[in-house]
Amino acid sequence: MPDYETFTHDVLIIGTGGAGLRAAIEASAAGVSVGMVSKCLLGKAHTVMAEGGIAAALANVDDRDNWKVHFADTMRGGQYVNNWRMAELHAREAPERVRELEAWGAVFDRTKDGRILQRNFGGHKYPRLAHVGDRTGLEMIRTLQDHGIHQGIDVHMEVCVLALLKDGARVSGAFAYDRERGRFRIFRAKAIILATGGIGKAYKITSNSWDCTGDGHALAYHAGAELIDMEYLQFHPTGMVWPPSVRGMLVTEGVRGEGGILTNNDGQRFMFDFIPENYKAQTADNEEEGWRYTQGDKEARRPPELLTRDHVARCIVREIKEGRGTPHGGVYLDISWIKKRLPKAEEHIKRKLPSMYHQFKQLGDVDITREPMEVGPTTHYIMGGVRVDADTQMSSVPGLFAAGECAAGINGANRLGGNSLSDLLVFGKRAGEFAAKFAREQSLGGVDEAVVKKLADEALQPFANGDKDNPYTVQRDLQEMMQHNVGIVREESEMQSALEHLKVLWERTKEVGVTGHRDFNPGWHTALDLKNLLTVSEAITRAALERKESRGAQFREDYPEKSAEFGKVNTIVWKGEDGGMQIRRETIPEMREELKRIIEEMK
Ligand code: FUM
Repeated sequence: MPDYETFTHDVLIIGTGGAGLRAAIEASAAGVSVGMVSKCLLGKAHTVMAEGGIAAALANVDDRDNWKVHFADTMRGGQYVNNWRMAELHAREAPERVRELEAWGAVFDRTKDGRILQRNFGGHKYPRLAHVGDRTGLEMIRTLQDHGIHQGIDVHMEVCVLALLKDGARVSGAFAYDRERGRFRIFRAKAIILATGGIGKAYKITSNSWDCTGDGHALAYHAGAELIDMEYLQFHPTGMVWPPSVRGMLVTEGVRGEGGILTNNDGQRFMFDFIPENYKAQTADNEEEGWRYTQGDKEARRPPELLTRDHVARCIVREIKEGRGTPHGGVYLDISWIKKRLPKAEEHIKRKLPSMYHQFKQLGDVDITREPMEVGPTTHYIMGGVRVDADTQMSSVPGLFAAGECAAGINGANRLGGNSLSDLLVFGKRAGEFAAKFAREQSLGGVDEAVVKKLADEALQPFANGDKDNPYTVQRDLQEMMQHNVGIVREESEMQSALEHLKVLWERTKEVGVTGHRDFNPGWHTALDLKNLLTVSEAITRAALERKESRGAQFREDYPEKSAEFGKVNTIVWKGEDGGMQIRRETIPEMREELKRIIEEMK
C-alpha cells in the first residue's frame, strides 16, 4: 500500500453544512468516534447562505398550525410524489429540532410575547419559518458548530473526497486529497454519511457556492447506490440579475414574505393573472387583502407572490420571454412600496432583511428601501438525490447514509422554502443516530490496495495530459449547455442534444490538462470536480427525459400536463454492470390510510 496518510473513524461524515454537523453531534453523542471531511473551511459551508428561515409547525404566530398541516402542505407542494414517510417524520420532528437549536444558543427573532417568531413563505398555509432576520443559515451553522466542537469530533478541513471505498457490498472508507498540499489521504470507517449539499455548479446561473458540485450524489452513484427523482431541480424565482458578476445570487423569499411584490416593465403586478385553480381559494385577488395577510390577518388570503416556487419562476420566465422584462432581463421585486402602508417602513426593511439591504446596496448600488430590485430565476436546489430509507437514512449500499440536499424523497417534485433547513436538522440527526448504531454493530472493513492505486493514477492524469483541454473551459461549456438544454422549460430534442453534448464532455474531461504542482492548484481541483458535475448532469437529463409529463419543478413543453400514470412513479438512476447509466420507473408505495385522511381533511 503506498504510504498515504490514513485516518480511522467509526463514522465518517462528508460535508460540514447543517446536515453534516447535526449528524456529527448525534453520532458523537452515541459514543462512537466521528470524523468530518470538509471541502472548505469549517463554518463556510453553503448552509450559511440559507436566508429566509426554518419551516416548523411551532404555531407561535398562528395557533391553527400543527404537524398535520405542515405535512399536507409539503405533500401538496411536492405534487404528491414525495416519500410520504419522510414528509411525515419531517413535519412531526421539525418543531423539536428547532427548540433544541434554540436551547443550544440560536438567537431567533421573537414575537412580542417572547416566543420564536415565524414568517410567511410560499406554499406554507400559516406563518411557519423560524428565522434570524435573513441570516438564518449562518446562525444555524454557528450554533451547531459551537455545540459540536465540544464533543471531540475530528474535522479535516479543505479535504476533498474523490471516491468511496468498499469491502464487498458495504462501504469501508474514502479516498481523498487535501487541497492545500495535494496529498492523498485514506479514511477508513465503519459507516459513512454523505452530507455534501447540492449540484448548482452544473448550471451557469445559480445561487449555489463554488463547492456545490454534486459530490455526494456522484460518490454514492459510483459506489453503487441508487439516485431518485433527479429530474426535479428547483429554480428559485428570485436571484439577482445585475451586475453580471453576481448573477444568480439568492434574493430571499423572505422579501415576499415581508410584503414584497413582483411587477413587470409595465408596472403590472402580473402574479394576480396566474393563480392556479387549486390555489384560488387561498390566494388573494387584490392588493389590499394580500397586504393584510402579510400583516398577520388570519381571515385574509395570501398574496399570489407566495405561491409555490415552481409556479412563480415560470410566471417570471413568461413575462421576460413576452417582452415585459426589466432592462437586464428580469422582473421587479419591490419591498419599498410598503412605505405606502407602514410607518417606519425603511427601518422595518433594514431590520427584517439586513442582508438583502447590504447585498443590493454594495453589489448593485440599489437602495431596496427606496427602489425595486431586478430579479430572475436561479438554479437553487435539487429535490432528487441519494435514495435512502426514510427512518434510518441508509442508502442501498450497506453502511452508506445520506442527509440534507444530497439525499432525496421528502420534497417530491418541488420543495417548499424553509423545508431544507428543517430537513437537514431532522434527517441529519437521524442519519447520525443510525450510522452510529450501524458502526457499533460492525468491524472495520478492508481497503483494496489496487483500487487505491488506480484512483491515485486517475487523479494525477491531468498533470500528464499537458494542455490538451482546459478544465475551466469544459466546466463553462457544461454549465452553458445545461442551462440552455435542461433548464426551467424542457423538451425532448434539447435534452437528446444534451446527452450528445455530455458524451463529448466526458471525452474532453479525460483529456483535460493542468500545469504546475499539486500545492493548492485550482485548475487541478476543477479538473477533479468535473466527473461529479458530469455524473449529476447526465442523471438529471436522463430522468427528465424519462418523465414525460410536467409536474412541480419539471416542466416539459412537449408534455405540458400532469399525467396520472407518471404521478404514481419515481425515477431511479443507477450505474449498470457495464459502467453506463441505467434508468427505471418504480411505483410509489401506497400511503398509510391515516396520512391519506390528513391530506383529504386539509384539502
Ligand atoms: O428564499 C430563501 O430564503 C430560500 C430558502 C430556502 O430555499 O429554503
